[in-house]
Amino acid sequence: MAKRVRTAVFPVAGLGTRFLPATKALPKEMLTVVDRPLIQYAVDEAREAGIEHFVFVTGRNKGVIEDHFDRQFELETTLEMRGKTQALDALRHDLPSAGRTSFTRQQEPLGLGHAVWCARDIVGDQPFALLLPDMLFKGVPGVLKQMMEAYEETGGNVIAVEEVPPSEVSSYGIIARGEGPDTGFAITDMVEKPRREDAPSNLMISGRYILQPEIFALLADQPKGAGGEIQITDAMQTLMRSQPFSGVKYQGTSFDCGSKIGFLTANVAYALDRDDIREGFLAAMNKLNFGQQFDQPSRSNRTAAE
Ligand code: UTP
Repeated sequence: MAKRVRTAVFPVAGLGTRFLPATKALPKEMLTVVDRPLIQYAVDEAREAGIEHFVFVTGRNKGVIEDHFDRQFELETTLEMRGKTQALDALRHDLPSAGRTSFTRQQEPLGLGHAVWCARDIVGDQPFALLLPDMLFKGVPGVLKQMMEAYEETGGNVIAVEEVPPSEVSSYGIIARGEGPDTGFAITDMVEKPRREDAPSNLMISGRYILQPEIFALLADQPKGAGGEIQITDAMQTLMRSQPFSGVKYQGTSFDCGSKIGFLTANVAYALDRDDIREGFLAAMNKLNFGQQFDQPSRSNRTAAE
């Protein structure tokens, strides 16, 4: 039986240059989709999948992420005094329990692979989930939960993938698909940012992984790859020689919130899905006079779109 995955790693040490100047002092992962920071969505997804220990690899200017996952006594007391019990309960519910978070620093942003390697001593000799918080997934159940179901069957390493237009493969890590259903198929190869003509498929590695701890030793010696950064895909490619990798083509919609278009689209999608916001938001959009009226999508339409 596959060893249970209890720990998740959240690399949050990137510079977020595509979001400057917003990210000059504010971590990209604290940007909000409607009223929740991106990092909170990732933590929620991990909790839903049964994760018990949350490891954040942070960098300079990221102290606010640690504060976000701490109690705020002054705020809580004020909410209590004002009788805002619903807001208070929601705040408390968002927090992993005491002792379940760990923070370490990536002293230089040398790449995602290097950020993951920085978590090696905290994770230790056990499988772990890796979630990139700027990839936001909307769907039920969450992507990591869907991957956990595959992992229980296959063990080894599991990667979430989605289709991208062939013209975009050179921006992503791409896998080659072997046998098996969408809920868990063999991965036979992978490559980071291939040229379109060299890409083994149009299935993109989309920011959620379940990895075995042997990846750490490979990351330790991993030379810089695409973009001059230490790439997790390169280390996974080596690990594939000795361990199985499965892919899950997940159900749901993804938003690349590291890009402005993805981030703005996510805000619209999540706002339209909120009963307390939808109507007022649509009315405000219609006032902007785009030359087109936006209709209120019915709940059934929204579900089908997901
Ligand atoms: P990105 O590739 O989106 O890089 O990182 P970035 O630096 O955050 O953003 P841009 O491209 O400059 O706008 C994907 C994830 O990996 C983390 C990021 O914080 C993000 O969650 N990361 C990336 C690190 O933790 N360290 C790194 O050295 C690079």
